[in-house]
Amino acid sequence: MSVAKPLPHESARLHVTGTARYTDDIPAPAGCLHLAFGLSEVAHGTLDALDVSAVRAAPGVVAVLTAEDLDPMPDCSPSLHDEPLLCTGEIHYAGQPLYLVVADSHLAARRAARLHRAEVTERDPVLTIEQALAAEAWFDGGPRVWVDGDVDAALTAAPHRLSGQIEMGGQEHFYLEGQAALALPSEAGEMHVLTSTQHPTEIQHKVADALGLPMHAVRSEVRRMGGGFGGKESQGNALAVACAVAARLTGRACRMRYDRDDDFVVTGKRHDFRIAYDVGHDDRGRVLAVTFRHWTRCGWSQDLSLPVADRAMLHADNAYDIPVMRIESWRLRTNTQSATAFRGFGGPQGMLGIERVMDHVAHAVGRDPLEVRRLNFYADARDASKGGRTHYGQQVTDFCLNAMVGKLAETCDYDARRKAIADWNAANPLLKRGIALTPVKFGISFTLTHLNQAGALVHVYADGSIHLNHGGTEMGQGLHSKVVQVAADRFGCDVARVKITATDTGKVPNTSATAASSGADLNGMAVKAACDTIRARMADHLAAIHQADPADVVFAEDAVRVAGAEYPFEKAAAMAYVARVPLSSTGFYATPDISWDREAGQGRPFFYFAYGAACSEVVIDRLTGENRILRTDILHDAGASLNPALDMGQVEGGFVQGAGWLTTEELVWDHAGRLRTHAPSTYKIPCASDVPPVFNVTLWDDPNREETIYRSKAVGEPPFMHGISVFLALSDAVTACGEGYPALDAPATAERVLGAVHRLE
Ligand code: MTE
Ligand code: MOS
Repeated sequence: MSVAKPLPHESARLHVTGTARYTDDIPAPAGCLHLAFGLSEVAHGTLDALDVSAVRAAPGVVAVLTAEDLDPMPDCSPSLHDEPLLCTGEIHYAGQPLYLVVADSHLAARRAARLHRAEVTERDPVLTIEQALAAEAWFDGGPRVWVDGDVDAALTAAPHRLSGQIEMGGQEHFYLEGQAALALPSEAGEMHVLTSTQHPTEIQHKVADALGLPMHAVRSEVRRMGGGFGGKESQGNALAVACAVAARLTGRACRMRYDRDDDFVVTGKRHDFRIAYDVGHDDRGRVLAVTFRHWTRCGWSQDLSLPVADRAMLHADNAYDIPVMRIESWRLRTNTQSATAFRGFGGPQGMLGIERVMDHVAHAVGRDPLEVRRLNFYADARDASKGGRTHYGQQVTDFCLNAMVGKLAETCDYDARRKAIADWNAANPLLKRGIALTPVKFGISFTLTHLNQAGALVHVYADGSIHLNHGGTEMGQGLHSKVVQVAADRFGCDVARVKITATDTGKVPNTSATAASSGADLNGMAVKAACDTIRARMADHLAAIHQADPADVVFAEDAVRVAGAEYPFEKAAAMAYVARVPLSSTGFYATPDISWDREAGQGRPFFYFAYGAACSEVVIDRLTGENRILRTDILHDAGASLNPALDMGQVEGGFVQGAGWLTTEELVWDHAGRLRTHAPSTYKIPCASDVPPVFNVTLWDDPNREETIYRSKAVGEPPFMHGISVFLALSDAVTACGEGYPALDAPATAERVLGAVHRLE
């Protein structure tokens, strides 16, 4: 068995020796040109004139392309046709590309891209939620509203009411490898593009559109990304399209990468949200009804904002069986970067809304927040008929958080530490501690049902080595490693026999983005199907030779056994080849039993749920608001893990990234709409020293109830939301500073923590 083993990442050695090739490391042919965008410094207005004569005259510049040179203007949007590659007159945000410089070096292009003069009629930018509402600037024609039950009646009938609001900031992806692309013009106008992207088919599609080519004339390829986190689902389109357009015009290879500041200023980030709530509850803290209002700033174009905002609505219950709920969701158009996918895809924001409600209700009824949470949980499903029903009509048949949370509370010693913290806070006037244990229930599947499909292509060579490709992309999460393990397991061979190469639209067509955490679920199954086809042909052949039943042919321990004979795997492959048995196959998978009506907000959008729980303890300084995480314990449901080492890495990394979102990572736009936090000097991501000094991560390894690949569960995004435990532990510590509910906003920077302390003092 090669699955379920904690094998190292397939590229670990290349990563640590600096020999793994990323898009910008790929050697380009002689004469390769380098691109840079000239950017708008103004957030909103009309571009009346653009003088690029100084740009054209700058050293090393080969060409400068403005809107006048590109007709029709290529579009870069993944959804609507609303993202012209270059500004066509309307300026929508500070950082918007106005023109494209083509030069003989990266530096020459970047230097020249500062030399334009733009005449702009400026207009007041729409930046805040209030401004967007006043300007009626929104997508989707107005708010999306989902209603489950008679919320007015339920609120009126409830013994207690409370209401409140929480603001949560966005987040920069800060993938270590920035956006990058390389376009290689081929014969007959064909184009080969290499992009750091989670979505090679989207790149192929956008480049084909831009060049007026059928998709078969564009080949899109990616070997790996140095992190994507959702930021490379759509945000790589502009670079790939720019390179392809310039390559077509010049007949030369063209490459482009954003430096860190440009990456911050040009590309979209996590959506910030404001969530207001009105809750009805009883004396014990059982929540009887909630109304939520979500406002999110989507930026200048639609991008993936509608499904992101939908997923926030879909996670408004998190782990809680709430009898009556109404959600209203506003997707606001603002003069800022176009907010995009980011780990959790809106789920974290929706989930923080209900976690805040639980915390607030617990404060109101004077009970431990963990008790209130458990009181409101769905019922654990021991058979498929049990469990509750979500506000969108899906039956929760696999709930296990009652058991998981019980286990975690015990292993992290929650009750005793809660008491010790109270004693400690009573004795310490300046430093205050806090603790919170929060659950995660995250829905797995793309909500756009047709995206839940995958393909694979597997070859067994005559020497017994195996080469495979599938539709997913590798961004550090270990997808390729898991898929290699699946293939090795199907053939009963050593993982060293299996080679996986770049994701390539010429090998596997019509791929979905590697997103929604479903990479291994979808592509693992497609690869399994392809391997099983080849294995069955090999088995048939060997069985015929030995007059045995093909079902009795065993592939194990790097050999094939049949009727007492044993062939090394390479021998079996060679025999099949000589006998003219086809040793190559495609495979395909489509997730069963899902359906979703997004208008009505009803259906079974998720194949299953991934679960987890985290307990964090923090300390704050009430004089400065500075804070630290002291300890975190996580129990996370990865199903029957395909690779526990990689899954542990996903859980640890996801938690740290989630904690960063809610604590130190703060995006600040000034009144003119310019992003002032555009480098690590002004934007603080967590570093190694921010990892909790005591950090206990355990996998809950009950097999998935649904028939997924080896009964594993998706693990990419769900652990991100364990960061909520840190935020609510900070809120708990603030509670120890005075009277009242802190109503802390996120990110809980030192300033916000201090502000909350002052409100209570
Ligand atoms: N882990 C690493 N190291 N780098 C990444 O970019 N992206 C996350 C998650 N884990 C990411 C990561 C996101 S946003 C998703 S959707 C999943 O990985 C995608 O991969 P999967 O479907 O194979 O889990
Ligand atoms: Mo992940 S946000 O679905 O790329």
